[in-house]
Amino acid sequence: MVDENTLQNCFPKLIEEIPAIKPAEIIEIESGEINKNTDICVNIWEALSDLGAERNSVIINLGGGVITDMGGFIASTFKRGMRFIHIPTTLLSQVDASVGGKVGIDLKGIKNLVGCFSNPEAVFIDPRFLITLPKKEILSGFAEIIKHALVADAVYWKTLKEINLAEPGQLETIIYRSIEIKNNIVQQDPMESGLRKVLNFGHTVGHAVESLSLEGGRKQLTHGEAVAIGMICESWLSWKNKSLPEEEFNEIISFIQEYFPPWPFDDMDFHRLIALMRNDKKNRDNTILFTLLEKTGKATWDCALQANDIKDSLKFYLSLDKK
Ligand SMILES: NC(=O)c1ccc[n+]([C@@H]2O[C@H](COP(=O)([O-])OP(=O)(O)OC[C@H]3O[C@@H](n4cnc5c(N)ncnc54)[C@H](O)[C@@H]3O)[C@@H](O)[C@H]2O)c1
Ligand SMILES: [Zn+2]
Repeated sequence: MVDENTLQNCFPKLIEEIPAIKPAEIIEIESGEINKNTDICVNIWEALSDLGAERNSVIINLGGGVITDMGGFIASTFKRGMRFIHIPTTLLSQVDASVGGKVGIDLKGIKNLVGCFSNPEAVFIDPRFLITLPKKEILSGFAEIIKHALVADAVYWKTLKEINLAEPGQLETIIYRSIEIKNNIVQQDPMESGLRKVLNFGHTVGHAVESLSLEGGRKQLTHGEAVAIGMICESWLSWKNKSLPEEEFNEIISFIQEYFPPWPFDDMDFHRLIALMRNDKKNRDNTILFTLLEKTGKATWDCALQANDIKDSLKFYLSLDKK
């Protein structure tokens, strides 16, 4: 399964390395999160049926997180589960979406509302695919890499501060370390009953601003850009409510600001943002739950916070633009 961009940029590279794939049937969808939906799934299930796909047939998902999430979901449900392989081609899908066994699609405008836990036969990662990836998409994946360091590895955080993203060799090293971190966490808690929640750092506020950016009239954020805003607000909350030292907090904020320019919203949006956070499927008992930092490299989860605190963190984000 591919989209138009991975068909053009990645498929030729793949068959050059593995010519045996050349005769495979190509299932192409249009790129974009908007296409991660039930209609497309139905089309593809029908196509698989017409092609005579069986349980031991294999779907190869060649693309970003949209392709790996949806291709994995389609494969996991067709005939109660056929085999699939991920070949992620964006930085975000290499370090995040293709690791950890979550597959799914969006419904009613809610991200990943329908899905399951299901693991591919294999994940093959080649940083050379990233050569054609737009810089904006590289940065989107880099936000998750920053998150990995902040929640799990203070030494890695120091490495990131020295990194030059334009240098392909350096990217390869951090892809490897990020996958190691995510894999290690997921293996200890595959179903997200505890520890895996550290990976939600930056995502309570992040998902809310990502949804807000889709509500028209605004500059649309990539997932990583939204998570970067989320990490700024949630670092502020960590400094205010947990033990994150002020010096580490300041370091985090200036590092994120180096890569991610400010995204404008205003006080009028606070109410909507809090409402979006209340909808987060990770919440329980009508409280808004956060993953916060105790220090760089150590996170704690299920921290319930009041709307006023959350608003203050949004105000802090907006104040940065004025400095
Ligand atoms: N399952 C999980 O654990 C998990 C984790 C994080 C994110 N996700 C999901 O991942 C999705 C986002 O993934 P994404 O950021 O990779 O987005 P994406 O799949 O939309 O890819 C971004 C863009 O890059 C293009 N592209 C992909 N590879 C390319 C290449 N090598 N060269 C040029 N263009 C290329 C795509 O066509 C698309 O236009 C979301 O749906 C999110 O929910 C899932
Ligand atoms: Zn994310």
